[in-house]
Amino acid sequence: MVPKETEKLETELLLEAIYRGYGFDFRQYARSSLLRRLHYIRQKAGVAHLSELIPLILHDERFVGELLSSMSVTVTEMFRDPDFFLELRTKVIPVLKTYPFVKIWHAGCATGEEVYSMAIVLQEEGFYDRVQIYATDMNQQSLKTAEEGIYPLDAIRKFTVNYNNSGGKASFSDYYYAKYQMAKMNEDLKRNIVFTAHNLVTDQTFGDMNMIVCRNVLIYFDRQLQNQVFRLFDESLVHRGFLCLGSKESMEFSSLRGTYENVSARWRIFRKPLT
Ligand SMILES: C[S@@+](CC[C@H](N)C(=O)[O-])C[C@H]1O[C@@H](n2cnc3c(N)ncnc32)[C@H](O)[C@@H]1O
Repeated sequence: MVPKETEKLETELLLEAIYRGYGFDFRQYARSSLLRRLHYIRQKAGVAHLSELIPLILHDERFVGELLSSMSVTVTEMFRDPDFFLELRTKVIPVLKTYPFVKIWHAGCATGEEVYSMAIVLQEEGFYDRVQIYATDMNQQSLKTAEEGIYPLDAIRKFTVNYNNSGGKASFSDYYYAKYQMAKMNEDLKRNIVFTAHNLVTDQTFGDMNMIVCRNVLIYFDRQLQNQVFRLFDESLVHRGFLCLGSKESMEFSSLRGTYENVSARWRIFRKPLT
């Protein structure tokens, strides 16, 4: 058993190597889940100590590619938390619909299910043609899947239940076609989506967003980093823009605390003030 202090030092050195070598900054990620992932990577690499990963990080580019993909938890689903989408339809969409043009940023979109869910909602609400969606993630492999929009058929049953519970107005099967054991989302849904790499820790703001959706991403960051990302979101949103977080995420410990209007306390939908 490695003493805690030694493991802490090894972790710091390893994260520093990733950051200094490749610019990916995990130094302020919440430690417990980060350590779980690092030990998983260590076991897969067949080494006894975290520090033994450092030479691989410094000298083996292929290992780094795999490591970066394994560093993020990309679990997601279509219409995840169906009530969140119901709340969107009733409390947010009626406002957005009154605008001539709407920009939405999905930060940390993983493999894209959340983005296709949004495109479906906007299409059903009849104003998708006036919306531009930016779907970003730091994980290039996930983004590739997102752009392809092909998911295992096994998952579709759950997605269909979620869609029905989220206030879906049609049949979920209208939005994909099945081939072999996979389901491909309709190309048409992609027409207003730009998929692009963006790192919330090291990259710049996305300007003039009417809504930012960043769900189940900030839970992996420590409070200081969450605060930094909240400032990035605040700078990226227009006045009266909406900010949607995951059900376990809050602005409570950030410097924006109390400044945003609570649109839905349960589903963590907030609205930026006028000034
Ligand atoms: C659990 S998934 C959330 C997916 C989706 N938003 C949802 O709620 O279902 C978390 C995603 O955040 C991404 N992520 C983690 N750190 C990030 C960072 N610094 N910048 C951008 N994306 C990040 C991961 O790559 C992963 O795809």
